[in-house]
Amino acid sequence: MKKTKDILWGGATASSQYEGGYKEGGKGLDTQDCRPYLKRTSDATTSTRLLTQDIIDEAKKCEGIGHYPFRQGSDGYHHIDEDIALLKELGIDIYRFSISWARLYPHGDEETPNEEGIKFYDHIFKEVHKAGMKIFLTMNHYAVPLYLVENYGGWTNRKLIEFYERFATVVFENWGEYIDYFLPFNEINAGYFSPYNGVGLVKEKDQPYNQTLVFQSLHHQFVASAKTIKIAKKLSPKSQSGCMVACFCYYPLTSTPEDNLKAVRDEEIHQWFAVDILANGHYPSYMDRFFRENDIHLTVTEEDSELLKKYTCDFVSFSYYSSSIATCKEDGQQTAGNLVVSTKNPHLKASDWGWQIDPVGLRIMLNKMYDRTQKPVFICENGLGAHDIMEDGLIHDPYRIDYLEQHFKQIDEAIDDGVDVIGYIMWGVIDIVSAGSCEMEKRYGVVYVDANNLGQGTYKRYKKDSFKWYHDFIENKHKQFN
Ligand code: BG6
Repeated sequence: MKKTKDILWGGATASSQYEGGYKEGGKGLDTQDCRPYLKRTSDATTSTRLLTQDIIDEAKKCEGIGHYPFRQGSDGYHHIDEDIALLKELGIDIYRFSISWARLYPHGDEETPNEEGIKFYDHIFKEVHKAGMKIFLTMNHYAVPLYLVENYGGWTNRKLIEFYERFATVVFENWGEYIDYFLPFNEINAGYFSPYNGVGLVKEKDQPYNQTLVFQSLHHQFVASAKTIKIAKKLSPKSQSGCMVACFCYYPLTSTPEDNLKAVRDEEIHQWFAVDILANGHYPSYMDRFFRENDIHLTVTEEDSELLKKYTCDFVSFSYYSSSIATCKEDGQQTAGNLVVSTKNPHLKASDWGWQIDPVGLRIMLNKMYDRTQKPVFICENGLGAHDIMEDGLIHDPYRIDYLEQHFKQIDEAIDDGVDVIGYIMWGVIDIVSAGSCEMEKRYGVVYVDANNLGQGTYKRYKKDSFKWYHDFIENKHKQFN
């Protein structure tokens, strides 16, 4: 029987949050480069996530880094070798990172890729491989070349599938031999909550998003996923293909049948529908009613349906940070979470950002995901975003160690439950800019990066206490829970 020691332990970053170097090496401007840092208020996260054309125009006027944190990231562009050495020292089995689409294709619609971009990633793939780590590649983690957004309407346009195929072909032709696991898209369900980040859809001022456009864009991404898997199967048959969603783990607030039904529906629409399509190869029947009742009309061709059916993913994966509450009453106290706002759960503590900490929820998600798909499951994001304080080069983060330990115990339980877990990947293993609120000071890493929300700092790297803890856990994993 599988044990905790048999699974892969890793760490992750994403190009837009980590690399910086936004104009270097021929990179084009992308959607994340236009998101400003706004001081935290109740609606700041929303305004830095759902961009209107005015905000984009303002961002384009700014020539430098300004108050656009993704342009600087953790300055990974200039620290890559040092960071790979740190990850090697940490002892992780697998490194998850993503490719900046706009670094390989500055506009996104070019026939041939940017050679400097190829050189940059060639170096990373080879160095990570040399350092003895497996590679988990996210082909696209939110950032869409801005040119595609402004000239094609982002993923609303079917043309993007074609451009994505070009991008995927170059990735697998060049680096297929190094890629162990891959995701065509990060958190593909994010397009529903965060259409700018997820599908490159610009928000009309004072208007809600048009839901047909949102779901049509998602559909184009589903087809692009299937086509990417098709390409990978040909060019790199050993690479395992996955799909990924952000998991919210809904509990009903009360035991009323209505609240229970709401929890089922929220979980279906918010997270399962993408998994059901990409793992099972067709739209689940519950979406028919949702589309009907919300006046959503999709164009799905016969070829699309065939592709979805034929190129399902080999494994399923998810990000998990906290659980959520579903209720028919809208008057409960609200709290933040990853991508969604939820009613507060009186039984749980929350992070500094209000995300409700629930290790058992991870076990529940692992069980549900496996029962639903019968495919191996990868936890490809989890961790604690917290305020860390550095004093004399030391960062004591017992809260993070506690969070990790509690979650790892639940993974162990899930493995005992019979879930086929492939691995666990800690999010933001090196501090990176927050994708939700554009803050540098919301830190997940076991490696501290000396920079603040305004981009001030040396960008030097320091090991936190959790670095040693995670290192020792991985080294001794066979002794921990087995
Ligand atoms: C996931 C994203 O939604 O959550 C990451 O895939 C993101 O990009 C992570 O960083 C944590 O969210 P945040 O908002 O704390 O950065």
